[in-house]
Amino acid sequence: MTGFDGELFAGRTVVVTGAGRGIGAAVAAAFLACGARVVAHAGRTLEHAETDLMARVPAETRDRLVLLTQDLGAPDGGKALADKVLAEVGVIDVLVNNAGTMGGRIRAGEETAADYDHVLDLNIRSVVDLTGRLLPALRAGTTPAIVNTVSISARSGGSAGSALYSGTKAFVSAWTKTLAKELAPDGIRVNAVSPGTIMTDFHRRYSSDEKLAATAASLPLKRLGLAEDCAPAYLFLAADPLSAYITGQILEVNGGQLMP
Ligand SMILES: NC(=O)c1ccc[n+]([C@@H]2O[C@H](COP(=O)([O-])OP(=O)(O)OC[C@H]3O[C@@H](n4cnc5c(N)ncnc54)[C@H](OP(=O)(O)O)[C@@H]3O)[C@@H](O)[C@H]2O)c1
Repeated sequence: MTGFDGELFAGRTVVVTGAGRGIGAAVAAAFLACGARVVAHAGRTLEHAETDLMARVPAETRDRLVLLTQDLGAPDGGKALADKVLAEVGVIDVLVNNAGTMGGRIRAGEETAADYDHVLDLNIRSVVDLTGRLLPALRAGTTPAIVNTVSISARSGGSAGSALYSGTKAFVSAWTKTLAKELAPDGIRVNAVSPGTIMTDFHRRYSSDEKLAATAASLPLKRLGLAEDCAPAYLFLAADPLSAYITGQILEVNGGQLMP
């Protein structure tokens, strides 16, 4: 259950990447609950969608859900996913670029060519390529919007070993603003959500329990975030009735961890 229902996105087509688990799953489920047809890129496989995403999606809304898979860490991943999306839908109203990862804690001086390729292809190249290929379908949409997932680390620098990752998220933050200016004449708004420390598989992979407990204790709201804490920010930035005059902005969702 998402805590949402209604018709805010009834009749609208929403594409969400990285929707098989974590933040993307909560976002896809929230758009479904608000009446959208959702084309969900589940990840590299359907493995996590079958548990995380599908557990959030009531049976009666599943006929509005299309699941796709694609490795976005491959150099042509974004273009390949775009082709799969366009085989399903010709018009897109909302694109959520959410798939991404840190690719491991990589210390300064220890970066390999494979690290660059993986982190930059996934977090930058696939996002730019997918968006570029979907622009004609977005231009045909109704009050279209793009919402990107960046990270608190784009502003804070993140913690040790996250430099490549944090840099990619800073890129997407800047690109969000450039795109907002470039696409405004087309009527497309472009914004980003910047999560803080959200308890998903992401931090189960990259952060120790001790580090997470210390982070939670340091936050003004005294708890780590949940994927469900992030989803409303995506709905807000995608919904013309709620945010028609907002573009080129980065919305921080972090329990007060950073107050820029
Ligand atoms: N959790 C946080 O605290 C946090 C904070 C700031 C920003 N973020 C950002 O939020 C977004 C979602 O993260 P999350 O916390 O929900 O993490 P998650 O639970 O690990 O989910 C990541 C999603 O991205 C997909 N993905 C990763 N590598 C991929 C690849 N090579 N090809 C295709 N899909 C791939 C995953 O698919 P697979 O199942 O195939 O891996 C999954 O669907 C990411 O962009 C992340 O950088 C998270």
